[in-house]
Amino acid sequence: MEVLELYETAKVSQWNATRDIPWDRDEPMTATEHEVLRGLLSNYHFGEMAGIEIPAFALLKVKDREAKLFLSTQQMDEARHVEAFDLRLQQIGCDVKQVQMGNVAFSKALADLLTLETAEEAIAGIHIVFENLGSVAFRSHYRALCKTGRDPVTREILKRVIADETRHEQFGRTWMKKFLEANPERLEVVDGVQKRIAPMMIETLLHKSAKMKVWEIEREEDVASAVKKFTWILDDLGLDSSYLN
Ligand SMILES: [Fe+2]
Ligand SMILES: [Fe+2]
Repeated sequence: MEVLELYETAKVSQWNATRDIPWDRDEPMTATEHEVLRGLLSNYHFGEMAGIEIPAFALLKVKDREAKLFLSTQQMDEARHVEAFDLRLQQIGCDVKQVQMGNVAFSKALADLLTLETAEEAIAGIHIVFENLGSVAFRSHYRALCKTGRDPVTREILKRVIADETRHEQFGRTWMKKFLEANPERLEVVDGVQKRIAPMMIETLLHKSAKMKVWEIEREEDVASAVKKFTWILDDLGLDSSYLN
């Protein structure tokens, strides 16, 4: 899909966290389930905050009009994701201001993303690596909730967030493919970003993944298949994927 088509899809796919989530369908959960859900939602909160900041930087730096239009829609998407996950955290009794990041690899990956200097580096970091690998956390969680039929509130948030993230990821691939064809001398820089951040994201995803089984989330399995898909994406863009084997 071309960037302008993705922009068109974004315009008609806007949803509203206060209106479109079945907030009244909150269900009881055990203390362990609560602890794991709080941890997951906290990581989603931090990830989505970065999701607001890095595309904003890319929007500022990118030269072409189409990318600026698309990235403007992404700003609203990511703001809505923060809002939805924060509302869910509040609903299960957590103060969003007190939410803490307990995953060292994830902190490092987010800090690294904030050091990127050009549009292509930011898009490599956020759209190629973060949107592809990071969204495994959402997909894994969503798949488990569909299988068990539990937690309809989080399930609906995840379903809608995944649809948005898929669009962001498509934008990254489309934009980067054209960019690298026109600017092959930038390939090495883009490659450096993905090779540095992808291992941190993989480590992030596997952090405490065994505990998630309380919600029947099979993170390890999903990470393995996501890495395969990621390898294919890197190959298609002419980027190095050999370090993932
Ligand atoms: Fe997001
Ligand atoms: Fe996103």
